[in-house]
Order: sequence, then C-alpha cells, then structure tokens
Amino acid sequence: MTERELTAFFEDLHRHPELALEEERTTALVRRALTDAGIPVYPSGLPTGLIAVIEGTGPGRVIGLRADMDALPVQEESGLSYASEEPGKMHACGHDFHTACMLGAALEIKRREKALRGTVKIVFQPAEEVSKGGETVARQAILRDVEEFYAGHTYPAFPAGTLGVKPGPVMAAPDGFTIRVRGKGAHAGDPHQGVDPIPAAAALVLSAQTIISRFKNAFEPAVLSFAHFQAGNTWNIIPEEALLEGTLRTLNQEVRKNIRARLNALTESIALAHGCTADIQWMIGPDPVINDERLCGEAAKVAQGLGFAVKQQDDTMIGEDFSEYLKICPGAFIRVGTGGGYTNHHPKFTADERALWPAAQFFAELALRRANADD
Ligand code: NI
Repeated sequence: MTERELTAFFEDLHRHPELALEEERTTALVRRALTDAGIPVYPSGLPTGLIAVIEGTGPGRVIGLRADMDALPVQEESGLSYASEEPGKMHACGHDFHTACMLGAALEIKRREKALRGTVKIVFQPAEEVSKGGETVARQAILRDVEEFYAGHTYPAFPAGTLGVKPGPVMAAPDGFTIRVRGKGAHAGDPHQGVDPIPAAAALVLSAQTIISRFKNAFEPAVLSFAHFQAGNTWNIIPEEALLEGTLRTLNQEVRKNIRARLNALTESIALAHGCTADIQWMIGPDPVINDERLCGEAAKVAQGLGFAVKQQDDTMIGEDFSEYLKICPGAFIRVGTGGGYTNHHPKFTADERALWPAAQFFAELALRRANADD
C-alpha cells in the first residue's frame, strides 16, 4: 500500500464511523487488507476487532502493537471533504487514524519480513470508548506471550512530525459512580413532614471535594467530579430521592482505593446526618496507563532516528483501556502529533493526514527493532 492508498483507507474509515461493538465494516476492511497482503489473521472469534500475526525467522521477541477502532456518538462539524456520512457518529478521537496507522505498520513489517526475527502481533481493538474492548481482547490466548506492547494515540497539541513519549503514568484510571440519596417526600411548604434528600446530596457534593483538598496527599493527582445532579421535578414538592453521578480519576492504585473508601464513608455518614439513607455504586474503569521507562527510551531513539521531534506530552486525567495490555507485559502509549486545533472528542476534531504515513513507519520500525533486540 502506498502513502496515498493508506491515506485513502483512513479517509474511508473516517466517512463511515462505527460506534463501540458495531465495528463490523471497519473489521472487514482491515481483514481484507491484511489478507490481501498475506498476513494471517488469528481466529479470535471476536465479533468485531481482530489480531494479525507476523512471524519472523526466529529467535526473537514477541512484540504487540495495538490500535482501537471505534467512533463516538458526535455530530461531525469538521468541514472536511471526507467528513462522516453517518448522522450522529464521528471519529472524533482519531481511532480511524490509529486503525490506518497500525494497518500501515503491519504492511510495512510484512514487506520487511525477511529482516524480522521475532514475532509481531497487531491488535485492532473494538470498543475503547466504552472501556470494554481492551479487557476482552487482552484475554485472548494469542497475546499471552507478548513481551512488549505499544500503542499510538492522536494528539492535537503537537503538530505532525512530533511524537509524545513520556515514562510513568500517562492516562488515568477512570472510575464512575452513582449515588442515590433517599429521604421522604413531602409538601415543600411543610418540609418537617418529610426528609429532604436535596440538602443531604448538596452537602455530599461539597464535602466530597475535601477528600481531594484535605485527605489526599497533595503530590498525588486525583480528580473527583460530580457531573450529574438530579432531584425532584417541580417547585413545591420535596422529592423522595436525589441522584448523583460522577467520576474519580487517579494515577495511583493506592490513592484510587483510599478515595473510593472515603467517598463511600462520606456518602453513608452525610446521608445519616440528614436523616436520609444512601447507597453508592461504582463502575470500576481500567487501570491507569503507566509507561515503561526503558521502553520509552527505546521508542524515543527510534523516533529520533526517523527524524521525529520527541517531546513529553501534558499530563491528563482522561482514561484509556490500553492498560489492559500492560497487565500482560510492559509497554508504551505514545502520542502522535496530529495538530488540528481541536481536542479529542470535539465535533471539529481533525487529524493531520501528513502524520499518518510517518507514524505507520515509526511503529513498524519500533516493532521490528524490538522484535529483533537481544536485550
Ligand atoms: Ni481515543
């Protein structure tokens, strides 16, 4: 596949975004491109997503590359000539770029197959946006022997030609919670006849921030956001219940566990103090993504050798299920500068196509180099 053909492949994916667990067309296109190039696809039985395997001449290491494939429920406003043709769906996080990039890398590795000693396994993962795909795919038996895992992600803050390589925590653990505070409904003119859940819920929202400011070590990053507060439906009735939803973002498992326990305790005790009852339910997200320091060094070396500028990206408390693969082996989650001026998930998000071919070459070179490495 030439650069122009790979760019056309990316544009085609961009025109036809598919939401999490619906990536059927994308899977079929990738499968066909791999098969046409003589790259075997592992019979994973996954309804969407796939794993390709390129075996070298041996002996060598087993290297994993991972792309995610799913789009978002966003109405595109990019104005691109190849904008989404699916109403309400958009590749607003650049997963089309990731898919095309790792396909390009797979084809390049295949082209240089004779120079490959180890094995490269290329994962095209569904359902990253709903934190479901990584766990399912990483459990596949074929990935058990992978020794190093690499992934790339579009990064609007850097222009094409720049890669963000940073050791340590680079993506947060995104946990969600739902709290129900239950009181007793009453006429709003006679509040003493009921138990009002609204002041209890309001007190909880305010007190919860003291977990971040007073309880947690100031040198450990954490975010606790309430994003949804709902109670009642009119002006003169005290409701039975208040509903709160929000998210906890952490980079450290111990901090994560302690804050969760603290919010559980606050929920119970503040509800009690107001004469209410409450329960909290957690949606436990993927672990934080922690980049391996040595492998970041290897990736930076390869990037510089190919003429990329290498920088450290800004920290973020957004989550990523690439951490599921880092339970198998160490790895690095690398930011690919794609410019554009709008953040990921924005309706005007774009990825600079000029970044695509070089990124594919970079991941191919990195995988080849590491698969053949003796260290
Ligand atoms: Ni993404």
